[in-house]
Order: sequence, then structure tokens, then C-alpha cells
Amino acid sequence: MKQSVNIARGYFVTGTDTSVGKTVITGGLTGVFRKNGVRAAALKPVQTGGIESEDGLLSEDALFYRAAAGLSYSSREMNPCCFRQPLSPNLAARLSGEAIDPEFLAETYQRLAGENEVVLVEGAGGICVPLLDYHFTMADLARFLGLPLLVVARPGLGTINHTVLTVRYAQREGIEVKGIIINSYREEQATLAERTNPEVIEGMTGVPVLGIVPYLPDVSVESGQAGSLVEVIEAQVNWRSLLL
Ligand SMILES: Nc1ncnc2c1ncn2[C@@H]1O[C@H](COP(=O)(O)OP(=O)(O)O)[C@@H](O)[C@H]1O
Ligand SMILES: [Mg+2]
Repeated sequence: MKQSVNIARGYFVTGTDTSVGKTVITGGLTGVFRKNGVRAAALKPVQTGGIESEDGLLSEDALFYRAAAGLSYSSREMNPCCFRQPLSPNLAARLSGEAIDPEFLAETYQRLAGENEVVLVEGAGGICVPLLDYHFTMADLARFLGLPLLVVARPGLGTINHTVLTVRYAQREGIEVKGIIINSYREEQATLAERTNPEVIEGMTGVPVLGIVPYLPDVSVESGQAGSLVEVIEAQVNWRSLLL
């Protein structure tokens, strides 16, 4: 497999777990870039748990990017591979009798990279989720695409371990980690652990926490509602550092 050439600035958005807010952050950041005149797109190379529709399986994540960032790309242009089963990609692909081709995923990325200044690529689950087989994971896809990581993490107890593990694993795999974003922070209920976790994570990893995004009751991936997301991320996340 040949390595792809990166033209635009691209980031691979991973998380410390599934449902940590990768889609919310990917859609929201893409919206912030576009609001500020930066040509930006989002890509979900492989979606599992696709939604049945008259037009076939659709990616909920790609539909949310459209809603959050006002993108005109079709959900298929932002999601080349979609499987019905809500399983890890390798198993979901096997059950549907299809094969995932990293070259094809790279071509989709390159098309968006050719038309944009920034492309955010959302993984499935966390960094060690198997994509092709037991030996080709999300980390391998990020490396194959030549992209540094953005890590989305939870604010609460347990996040130090999950985040540090994710960052150190990626770095040992030879992947740069550009930044960490803490998502769904509830200021009014924040424990001492939650208030101090960002500092500890930065201290242990040496990777900057680019922002802390609050829990936003008007945001829902499932309903395709972005509410105040773009404005909040614009104010709370150091998105400009991703353009440097
Ligand atoms: N900051 C937030 N405020 C409110 N709801 C959020 C926030 N971040 C994520 N969610 C919700 O949490 C769930 C998981 O988020 P999602 O972005 O889909 O995670 P992932 O892509 O990592 O699986 C979704 O229902 C989403 O709407
Ligand atoms: Mg997602």
C-alpha cells in the first residue's frame, strides 16, 4: 500500500472511547472553520450502525456534519463506507460480505483535501478499534492517511488513564498527537477531579488541552441538532492552533 500525500491540513479525530463526542467536536470544529472563512470538510471513512433509509444506509455522523457545518457534500461524499451492524468495522464488514479498502478511503480523503484547507477525519470508536483485521486498527488508518490526532476525552473520573493511554499508544505507534479536547463538561457539577484533570493530562502527556467544551442541552447528534455548538466551540477551543 502506498502512503497518501497530504495536501490540506488534516486531523484524525479519535476518542478515548466510543460516544465521547467525536462527532460533536468534528462537526462543531468544521463549522467554526467555515464560519471564519476557512474551507473545511469532515469525513467519516467508515460508519457502523448505519441508518436505513429509502436511499440505502446513511451515516448519522455525516448527517450531523452537514447540519453543524452547513456542508453541501452529500453524506456519501463524507462517508464512503457504511455498514448496518453497530459493531467494530472489521466485523460489521465481514457480516455484510464487504471488504474495507484503505486505498479507497485514502482516495476519498484526498478528494476532500484537494477542495479544502482543513479536513477532519473521524475514526470509529477509539484508537485500537480494528478496521481491517486484528492487525490494522484506527491507529494504522491515521498513519496511512498521514494525519496527526485530535483526542476527544471525557471530563470525569477515569479520563486521566484513558487519555494518557490513548496519547502514549499513538505516540509509540509513531503518530503525532496535536491536541486533546475535553467534551461535555458540566461546570455546575464539576468535581475536584474534573476541575484538575486537564492540568494533569497536559502535564503527563505534554500535549495541549485545546479546549473544554461544555455539555450543551441543545445539541444532539441523533436529532441532527447543532444548536449553539459552533459558537461555543469557537469561544472555548483554540481552533486557530489547528491552522498553524
Ligand atoms: N457537548 C455535548 N453536549 C451535549 N451532548 C453531547 C455533547 N457531546 C456529545 N453529546 C451527545 O453524546 C452522544 C455521543 O456523542 P457523539 O459525538 O456521537 O460521540 P462519538 O462520535 O464519539 O461516538 C450523542 O448523543 C451526542 O449528541
Ligand atoms: Mg461518531
